[in-house]
Amino acid sequence: MCEAMKIAIASDHAALEMKADLRDWLIEEGHEVADLGPDNSDSVDYPDFGYKLASVVADGTVTRGIALCGSGLGISMSVNRNPQVRCALVSEPLSAALSREHNDANCLAIGARLTGLEMAKACIAAFLETSFAGGRHQRRVDKLSNPSL
Ligand code: RB5
Repeated sequence: MCEAMKIAIASDHAALEMKADLRDWLIEEGHEVADLGPDNSDSVDYPDFGYKLASVVADGTVTRGIALCGSGLGISMSVNRNPQVRCALVSEPLSAALSREHNDANCLAIGARLTGLEMAKACIAAFLETSFAGGRHQRRVDKLSNPSL
């Protein structure tokens, strides 16, 4: 796939199975993976896990985050409340690649009830393999973290 990275993955109860499958696959691919939970199928609130994931991406503990819930919507909204994190909700690999190339996304969100496992893997592979293009995109990305620029 690509160079080995430190990746954190988090979900809510709706994406527990996909989280386990993706975590094991990423480890097989040679990445260091921090599973931030949940670790059982009890119903939980996606913001609790989204905020936890955002914090380890923002402080540099990991290079990339993977956020999962039923639709991908709630957890991506939670993660994106941290101004240092740019989380892209995707369902196909071209958007995942563009989120890196144009937006320097450091977190990817996927809806486990809407996207199959193989498509999720294809999205993550594109996300991890694609570099930020910089140039004219840099100023726009900087404004995402600091609207007064
Ligand atoms: C949980 O039922 C569901 O609401 C959640 O996983 C997610 O889809 C929210 O955006």
